[in-house]
Amino acid sequence: MDELGFNKIAGAILATALGVMVLREVPHFLMHTDAPEVPVYSVGAIDLGSGEEEVLDLPFPQQSWVDAMDADEGAKVFKKCQSCHNVEAGGPNGTGPNLYGVVGGPTAHKSDFSYSSAMASAGYDWTYEQLDGFLTRPAAHLSGTNMAFIGLKNEEDRAAVIEYLRVNAASPVDRPEPKAAPEPEEPTEMVEGEEVPVVDEDGDVVEASTENPVADPTDSENEGEDTTSTTEEAAGDETAETESDSSDNSAANGNDETEPQ
Ligand code: HEC
Repeated sequence: MDELGFNKIAGAILATALGVMVLREVPHFLMHTDAPEVPVYSVGAIDLGSGEEEVLDLPFPQQSWVDAMDADEGAKVFKKCQSCHNVEAGGPNGTGPNLYGVVGGPTAHKSDFSYSSAMASAGYDWTYEQLDGFLTRPAAHLSGTNMAFIGLKNEEDRAAVIEYLRVNAASPVDRPEPKAAPEPEEPTEMVEGEEVPVVDEDGDVVEASTENPVADPTDSENEGEDTTSTTEEAAGDETAETESDSSDNSAANGNDETEPQ
């Protein structure tokens, strides 16, 4: 048997292998396109570790935010602010204004501090939501602000330090009510192919099945048989010829090695 014969056999093996792969993948692929991509649940905020948390707009504040309002924790977080801010009643302004009573007050709440024009003309109140947004990324929330602070990317840190600011006031404003996440739009709608529990007469769940279940597996079994028989035929041909081939084989290899020199 010459090299051409060997190549033919190798080609037949490769073609068979390719055929098996294709036949295996085709039913797989078909079944996959049948299965709908059903989101199990959606998350409101995903922390990408970059401070850019808000992916979906959930009503503010969520329960987790309110739960994180802890003045003791906030006092620790406030160490990051202390180089510029004082929070005591009648305390001095520093690089930043004194923050006593800032929560619920107007932007630029201190008349004796020289604010940036951006802050001076911001014209809103320091609601929990505004404070949370500002403290997440001051420069993004109020472009042109003089507050040279990168921001607190951790939601719990913001909630805690805002609580600390809240209690440092002559008459602290009320804590916020947590808002519920909006109801999903289509909560109960059945999706084709979704798992449907099979229930017997007593109402016991017997098994979980799918709506388009058994037809596909049998199909792929049949195709599985087809492929194996193809493989066997090819394998038969192959063994018949390879017996006489083995010497050619090594000869061919020998040629390959010597040729380049
Ligand atoms: C590097 C100094 C610096 C740091 C650190 C800093 N701030 Fe500020 N902050 C400022 C300055 C300056 C302003 C005034 C900004 C302007 O005029 O645009 C300001 C303004 C504010 C305001 C608005 C005050 C008002 O009267 O409207 C709040 C609230 C505030 N800072 C909270 C914080 C908190 C909380 C921290 C810590 C997590 C912090 N800041 C860290 C410098 C700083």
